[in-house]
Amino acid sequence: MQAQDQVSVEFSSAPPPITQLKYFYQDAGWNASDEFIAQTIPFKPHPILETVWVCLAVGGTPVGMARVYLPPPVASNPPAFIGDVVISQSSRGKGLGSLLLGKIEEYCKKRGILLLAIESGAQSHAFWAHHGFSLKPPIPQVLFKNIG
Ligand SMILES: CC(C)(COP(=O)(O)OP(=O)(O)OC[C@H]1O[C@@H](n2cnc3c(N)ncnc32)[C@H](O)[C@@H]1OP(=O)(O)O)[C@@H](O)C(=O)NCCC(=O)NCCS
Repeated sequence: MQAQDQVSVEFSSAPPPITQLKYFYQDAGWNASDEFIAQTIPFKPHPILETVWVCLAVGGTPVGMARVYLPPPVASNPPAFIGDVVISQSSRGKGLGSLLLGKIEEYCKKRGILLLAIESGAQSHAFWAHHGFSLKPPIPQVLFKNIG
């Protein structure tokens, strides 16, 4: 990455273009079939959550994405769920994944959210642990981070 490359992180209720989503899913090694992409765009773990799509671009080119499911502002302080975090292979290892997570944390904090959660396979636990997330037994596969 060159010093002049400007990094931007944008949050939107609108999903990215399908071709872009397919590109990131393919790049991450996930199911990127047309059927799965069509199903995953409207998916929410619970209907009460609000979906926010995050796009990270370098010099105007999207190289990273994530999805955040925001909870309603209720007294029990439920977590925001993070999903679909991808930095394209050619842009990995340059701190962009950390930058993306930092922006998501900032965005959630501003909305009064005190807890983040991510469902992750064992192969990615090290990445999340590196960023302050930890398992809360007996809940399997979901890592949490207090940001309050
Ligand atoms: C996981 C991913 C988003 C990391 O993006 P990245 O831009 O390469 O990450 P960064 O360069 O910001 O790395 C931040 C730190 O995490 C570490 N890290 C990165 N990937 C890691 C992994 N898979 N396991 C453990 N640590 C990891 C880096 O070594 C770095 O450590 P440092 O700060 O001590 O140097 C990227 O590898 C990716 O898109 N993977 C495929 C999709 C995926 O698995 N997503 C996560 C599950 S939803």
